[in-house]
Amino acid sequence: MERAFEDAIRELVGPIPWPPDGKEPDRPGVALADRIFAMTGTGEPPELATFLQRRADEQHYRTYLARRAVYQLRESDPQSFVLPRLEGGPKAALAELQYDEYGGGRPARLHATLFADALASLEMPTDVTPYVDQADASTLAAVNVMSLFALNRRLRGAALGHLAAYEATSSVPCRMVALGARRLGLPDAVAAYFEEHVEADSVHEQLAVRDICGAFADDNPDLAADVLFGAAASLAVDALAAEAVLTEWRDVPEEVAQ
Ligand SMILES: [Fe+2]
Ligand SMILES: [Fe+2]
Repeated sequence: MERAFEDAIRELVGPIPWPPDGKEPDRPGVALADRIFAMTGTGEPPELATFLQRRADEQHYRTYLARRAVYQLRESDPQSFVLPRLEGGPKAALAELQYDEYGGGRPARLHATLFADALASLEMPTDVTPYVDQADASTLAAVNVMSLFALNRRLRGAALGHLAAYEATSSVPCRMVALGARRLGLPDAVAAYFEEHVEADSVHEQLAVRDICGAFADDNPDLAADVLFGAAASLAVDALAAEAVLTEWRDVPEEVAQ
C-alpha cells in the first residue's frame, strides 16, 4: 500500500529535471536552494488564504481548522523521525527548527498545543480521532506523505524537501488566515496560532531551505533530486487539499465579502 501511495505521488509530481542545465553544479546546495525558492515563491497569494482573509464566515473557519487538525494536532512529529537519519549540519539545523516547533522548552508554546487551544476556543474537539474519521482523501494524503518520507531512510531527502516547501509557503498565508480570524472576531487563540507562524515560518523557511536542504545537498549531491521531489510533492498534495475545499467554497457569493 505504501508503495502504491509513493508511486501515485511520483506520478502526480511528474519528472523533475536535475541537475540544472544537465551538469552537476559546483555548489549543489546553493543551486538547490535557488530552485526551491523558485518553486515556492510564485508571488501569487494562495486562493484558499485569500478566501479565508476576505470572504470566509465562522463555519468556513471551522471546516478549515478541522481539516488542518489531522496534521496540526501532531505538528512537526513526522519530521522528528528524520533526525536520526541525518548527520552533521542538516541534523543540527533540523533539531533547531524542531526545538522551535516544540515550543522552545515551554509546553504551552508547542505549536500542536497552540493549535489545540485554537480548536478549544471554538469548542471543537482537541483529540485527533474525530478529524481523521471525517477527513477526505486529499487531507489524509497530505499527512501520509510526510510519514512516508520521514519513516523511510531512503526517502530522507524527500522529507527535507517537503519540510522546506511547507515552511516556505506558510508565512504569507498564515498572516492572511490570522487577518480573516480577526475580521470575524473569532477567539484570540485562533488568530494567535496563525500569527505565531508569520514570523516563525519566515525564519524556518531560511533554516529549512538553506541550512537543512542546501547543506544536505552539499553533503549528498546524489540525493539533491530527492529533495526536489519532496518539495514538489508537498506543493502538489497541498494544492489538491486546497482545491478540495475551494470547489465547495467558490459558490459563496462575493457579497459575503466585507
Ligand atoms: Fe509550527
Ligand atoms: Fe514552522
